[in-house]
Amino acid sequence: MRIDIVTIFPEALAPLEVSILGRARARGLVEISVVDLRDFTSDRHRQVDDLAYGGGAGMVMKPEPFFAAVEALTPQEGPRPRVLLTSPQGRRFDQRAAEELSREPHLIVLCGRYEGVDERVVEGLGVEEFSIGDYVLTGGELAAMVIVDATARLIPGVVGDAASVVAESFATGLLDYPHYTRPAEFRGLRVPEVLLSGHHEAIRRWRRREQLRRTLARRPDLLCWDALGEEDRALLRDDDA
Ligand code: ADE
Repeated sequence: MRIDIVTIFPEALAPLEVSILGRARARGLVEISVVDLRDFTSDRHRQVDDLAYGGGAGMVMKPEPFFAAVEALTPQEGPRPRVLLTSPQGRRFDQRAAEELSREPHLIVLCGRYEGVDERVVEGLGVEEFSIGDYVLTGGELAAMVIVDATARLIPGVVGDAASVVAESFATGLLDYPHYTRPAEFRGLRVPEVLLSGHHEAIRRWRRREQLRRTLARRPDLLCWDALGEEDRALLRDDDA
């Protein structure tokens, strides 16, 4: 998969160099390039923003550099890349969106800044706006990193253990169960006995019940009652007992 990130602050994307994504890039599983929007300006001052038509505070990002960047990054042949723009006005980015994007061969992520981006960027380039949550960041770079991280880690091979990607929170529609490692007792706090029992079926049931309980207690909005099977209902019922 290829991901191009277009920004006026290329150095802000440095965290993508390290850790799991850094390794994935080094191993050629995902090709991420950070592109400086100012390289696509044509004036002496490399200006990327201007005053808002209609007045009001703040600057608006100009359309021309975005068009030039997307056109330069779009291959002459083959499928058109999917072009995203980080924006609080966008579709909410969630695990389903990450799964959808991870199947694309080529993404271009445009980082918004200042008071906004000229609307013709969205209309004229067929851009999809994505928001990472209902709060306002100073710029789209952090949002772009969130989107790229959550998307790239779903590409086969990026995360070492494929089972951990399948089983984790949200992939299953439920929050994750609690995890423990050695020692079995720490400052008087004991690991639940069932996890030490070696009884795989009992452990599976305990974990599933913890997932259901946590989701019900913390994020009831995620629980899809109609989709719960007979075992899940029984585990929740036992929990009342
Ligand atoms: N830019 C500023 N705030 C944002 C948000 N919540 N999501 C995506 N891009 C943003």
